[in-house]
Amino acid sequence: MSTATQERIIRPARNILGTLRLPGDKSISHRYAMLGAFADGTSRFSNFSTGADCASTLSCMQALGARVRKLNDGRIEIDGVGGHVTPVDHPLDCGNSGSTMRMISGLLAPQQGTFTLIGDESLSRRPMERVRKPLAEMGASITLTDGHAPITIKGTQLRALDYTTPVPSAQVKSCILLAGLQTAGSTTVRESLRTRDHSELALRAFGAELTRAIDSVTINGPQTLRAIEAAVPGDLSSAAFFLCAAALFPGSGLILDGIGLNPTRATLLDVLTALGARIAVLQLQESHSELVGTVQITTDPQGLGSTTISGALAAQLIDELPVLAAIGPFTSGGIRVRDAKELRVKESDRIALVARNLRAMGAEVEEFEDGLDVPGGQRLHGAVIDSGGDHRIAMAFSVAALRAEGETLIQGAESAAISFPEFFDLLDLVAER
Ligand code: S3P
Repeated sequence: MSTATQERIIRPARNILGTLRLPGDKSISHRYAMLGAFADGTSRFSNFSTGADCASTLSCMQALGARVRKLNDGRIEIDGVGGHVTPVDHPLDCGNSGSTMRMISGLLAPQQGTFTLIGDESLSRRPMERVRKPLAEMGASITLTDGHAPITIKGTQLRALDYTTPVPSAQVKSCILLAGLQTAGSTTVRESLRTRDHSELALRAFGAELTRAIDSVTINGPQTLRAIEAAVPGDLSSAAFFLCAAALFPGSGLILDGIGLNPTRATLLDVLTALGARIAVLQLQESHSELVGTVQITTDPQGLGSTTISGALAAQLIDELPVLAAIGPFTSGGIRVRDAKELRVKESDRIALVARNLRAMGAEVEEFEDGLDVPGGQRLHGAVIDSGGDHRIAMAFSVAALRAEGETLIQGAESAAISFPEFFDLLDLVAER
């Protein structure tokens, strides 16, 4: 992938109108790619994520022996390795993708061979002790570089583990489940807050058995996986940018078809409703236990109210917080975010970058260690936005720019392609000027 940085100019809009269908969910695509590549047989996925992150997972799994093809109809076809990866003599490049690195660590720890996982500059700054610790407790030989990538794993037989995650994280939970899948005995992950459950649903879809309780999940290993055919639901975290954009303009009308509405991900719809947007979910269906539906948003001429996002809500909305904070100035009563310290160790320090970029646009904002206060009733002007190479910052401020006075320049706009390469084209399609 090219490392050249690109700029994008975003002009103010009058309205958001139209109907869109979005590319596949990033979290589900990672899991389908990893499990399909590990399973017995040939899997096929339609509407697979078009983002660079999921391409990183596919290329790592390819290096580990899976065969990956793109079919003429756009589907991805994967011949799995049947539970045994091929040793590789070069590092596996996880690019910008924390999900790839953390989940693949669990998959590889019980395999035969020595594996090195590397990532780009941003990923090499992110904390990896959270996966090293439980895997080491299972008996894995895993070393980090000062708490970060590069990670070296010398595959070995593991022991089952009962583990409570200190910071609730779906990536860490998934890492342990993937190790537990291949380990004799009963491995349990407990979490104080419920995190997204795509791994649990995907493992079951591929034929694994697991037991779920309110705050824990248990897998009895070893188990084998069988290939599946699946359609990946549209990405709700990508939809969030369009829903928030629509919410900014009284008179918007937007329909998003085929969106993933897994209850562990759909909190955004409740928050936007509480803020005053009118949201309808239509044609709800299920695909491999993932809910999929059409989301319709219209807005109230009275505009958006106010809200506080903290506790469990902050954890569930973690990927949507940048865009919610970025539209905070356009609410009447502001948006407060707390208990979201994890935002500081995402692809960038998202608390610092949201605060800095809101200020660049002329907004008043208060930064806390674990969140932000963004007062409402503010007018913003166009500005130069530093995305910090973070896809969600680039897209969040493209949304805020729609309601600013004058043009906004997004620096590092190419980073949107990490999760959503089509973002700017689709925004042009639905933004009425
Ligand atoms: C993800 C889990 C979350 C989220 C990330 C995707 C996943 O990270 O922020 O974008 O697919 O499991 P954490 O597990 O670090 O909370």
